[in-house]
Amino acid sequence: MVQGLVTDTLLTHSSMEQSLPEGFPALQNDTFLRAARGEECRHVPVWCMRQAGRYLPEFRETRAGQDFFASCRSPEICCELTLQPLRRFPLDAAIIFSDILVIPQALGMEIVMEPGRGPVFPNPLQSPEDLQKLKPAVDVSQDLGYVFQAITLTRHKIAGKVPLIGFTGAPWTLMTYMIEGGGSATMSKAKRWLYQHPAASHQLLQQLTDVIVDYLVGQVAAGAQALQVFESHAGCLGPQQFADFSLPYLRDISRRVKEKLKTEGREEVPMIVFAKDAHYALEDLSHSGYEVVGLDWTIRPQEAREKTGRRVTLQGNMDPCALYSSKENIEQVVKNMLDAFGRKAYIANLGHGLYPDMDPEHVGAFIAAVHKYS
Ligand code: CP3
Repeated sequence: MVQGLVTDTLLTHSSMEQSLPEGFPALQNDTFLRAARGEECRHVPVWCMRQAGRYLPEFRETRAGQDFFASCRSPEICCELTLQPLRRFPLDAAIIFSDILVIPQALGMEIVMEPGRGPVFPNPLQSPEDLQKLKPAVDVSQDLGYVFQAITLTRHKIAGKVPLIGFTGAPWTLMTYMIEGGGSATMSKAKRWLYQHPAASHQLLQQLTDVIVDYLVGQVAAGAQALQVFESHAGCLGPQQFADFSLPYLRDISRRVKEKLKTEGREEVPMIVFAKDAHYALEDLSHSGYEVVGLDWTIRPQEAREKTGRRVTLQGNMDPCALYSSKENIEQVVKNMLDAFGRKAYIANLGHGLYPDMDPEHVGAFIAAVHKYS
């Protein structure tokens, strides 16, 4: 009886500690953070976009039968899903399980995750008048507090093994989902806004930027040790539209997040910008206030280095589909990639996320090869 009481007290005490964004365990592996800052590292750090995903049987089991956004709202489930890939592989970073679409949700939009189809917005934005339906202001601690709780819990449970990355979708990418109502091959509805309604487009992008800034600062306050901004739909913009509708907001985000962290007396964390298929913008991205520029697989490492100089660390960029090849081939591709990028100011990753039909053993071969050749 007494024993039981003591255990209960201990449990309550430790779960209370795990809900507070302080007293985190000391970090044991800072290789990812060092590389992000361009410092010397013992080995090339490695992580994978979408490392917490359906290619893992344990992920499918934990997610089974649960609505996707219900999982996102449960700090315990997010924590478990984030930790799963770390139990299997010697990764150098974890990324919090969540989704970029929690921001449109916080702005009041309904989203359903349809298995096999992906995210669907039953009532997408159809005309500039629809902007009035969005919540005029988002209190991130109220509306997205569940993400912050997931980050705090996970940072405790990770026990200092590796740093925890927080993330957001970039304004343009979120705008495409809000207008297209889901995935799209052309993004023509969202691009139509840029040409027909430039002022309303800027208004929406600015509103998203304001939420994103608070959201990222909140993630750091909750325990995130690095931040990645996903501009996944940069590829459908040309150089001019990127310069007009994406880059200014990406710059605003890095500048304001850093400023706010400083004002609040928090430690600055490295920021990563991943603008998929935006080769034409690499030089600009290397001047946009991010320590790391993420690369998709369609750019040659040497070319990316030439365009970004020594200003930033590069992250990427193996074609995820190379994981469908033999383990021997994966090793060779990784060796070539490391030789081409060099081993300094470099974080190994894929050029985009893992797909559900990928073999976890081949993911393991990718990670092992980075360790072997670095
Ligand atoms: O491991 C991680 O990388 C962390 C978790 C993470 C998810 N989504 C979980 C998720 C991250 C970083 C994201 C970001 C995200 N979400 C992006 C940017 C990255 C990219 O892929 O370009 C985008 C565009 C989304 C929007 C989104 N969420 C789509 C298009 C889909 C459906 C895709 C699919 O594979 O079905 C999602 C759902 C989603 N988000 C899943 C996961 C693991 C799969 C659904 C499930 O678990 O049931």
